Amino acid sequence: TRRAAVLISGRGSNMVSLIEAASASGFPADIALVLSNRSDAAGLQRARAAGIATAIVDHRSHPTRESFEQAMDAVLVEHGIEFICLAGFMRVLTDWFVERWAGRMINIHPSLLPLFRGTHTHRRALEEGVLIHGCTVHFVVPELDAGPIIAQAAVPVIPGDTEESLAARILVQEHRLYPHALRMICDGSARLENGRVVFSGDWSGEGAL
Ligand code: GAR
Repeated sequence: TRRAAVLISGRGSNMVSLIEAASASGFPADIALVLSNRSDAAGLQRARAAGIATAIVDHRSHPTRESFEQAMDAVLVEHGIEFICLAGFMRVLTDWFVERWAGRMINIHPSLLPLFRGTHTHRRALEEGVLIHGCTVHFVVPELDAGPIIAQAAVPVIPGDTEESLAARILVQEHRLYPHALRMICDGSARLENGRVVFSGDWSGEGAL
């Protein structure tokens, strides 16, 4: 099994779904570390409760983004980490860190990319009047929310939806999608090659859940 880290800044509900999935026998990854840039991230308690090693690298105690990321990288290497899942990790990463983990770092984003990169995705989806919305897991590249897509799940936008109701409907799908995507990169059935995702193995259209 591969050693994966989950990077969080807050609640950590996707982190919990990854921990739960990875604890099942036959899953190709272990969640070996949860790393947060905030000591008050609620997810840290949930990780500790699950018996997962945790680390805090506070960006505010570093003068530059580079030194913050070098500190994170050192912790990741120390724990023998091979794959990184960004799960509500709210720091923009430098090209250096992204290149270093190229093909080994994925992110979950609460929209059907390439629509609605950035923040407030549910508010913007409601403003635009889209009738289908969702979530995406993608490889991380230097450009924000622009990496090659590994898996997506769609939900309907329903009359009367609020940001909160839409977020909740999508979060259910995020919790299914993210373990599925981690499995695919760890067992080699989704690989980054020349800036594209190459699917192989027993993939049978399950990228769209
Ligand atoms: C999730 O909805 C995730 O998709 C989103 O933050 C939430 C984190 O929730 N990520 C982003 O907006 C990334 N820009 P969680 O901490 O409960 O997993």
